[in-house]
Amino acid sequence: MDIKTVIRTIPNYPKDGVMFRDITTLWQDAAGLRTAIDQLVWPYAGVRIDKVAGIEARGFVLGGAIAHQLSVGFVPVRKQGKLPAATIGEEYDLEYGTDIVEIHEDAIKEGENILLVDDLIATGGTAEAAIKLIRRAGGTVVGAAFVIDLPDLGGRARVENMGVNVRTLCE
Ligand code: PRP
Ligand code: ADE
Repeated sequence: MDIKTVIRTIPNYPKDGVMFRDITTLWQDAAGLRTAIDQLVWPYAGVRIDKVAGIEARGFVLGGAIAHQLSVGFVPVRKQGKLPAATIGEEYDLEYGTDIVEIHEDAIKEGENILLVDDLIATGGTAEAAIKLIRRAGGTVVGAAFVIDLPDLGGRARVENMGVNVRTLCE
């Protein structure tokens, strides 16, 4: 199936001029969800992956399903202040101002291979911060997987320039 047909676009959300790509309509479609997870996972067959890291909030849903399919653990990359134990954090730019993402400092062990997952890559700022965090923790990012790429915003190139292989399912 063509998963693009089950992704809804909401114009002018959360503000004027933004075409919001709403992945909840893909999640609620059984064939759509399974197809997206299968297509994100199959290129990593034969690749050693120790954990999946998913970015809050939409990356939790996809990342959890992918971790299950790969039979590996899951690490949440959360917005600042949400994780209960000791954390490490990385700042990244938003359209106005900055934000911080965090992981637990003991979530990733030295030498572990990590697959990063999110629903969408736009500017790549969030993914870049997540990759920096994983590397600081001693992990190797073996790939970054997204359902949606917004190519005009340059995120894929930004992540690839960090030496990370990017997989996306639609633009
Ligand atoms: C969205 C999306 C990505 C990020 C992509 O999340 O799920 O995580 O933006 O943008 P970027 O490539 O320009 O960094 P958002 O920050 O809206 O958080 P949410 O999933 O909690 O709604
Ligand atoms: N995150 C950043 N840009 C987005 C968009 N256009 N749709 C959904 N999520 C986004």
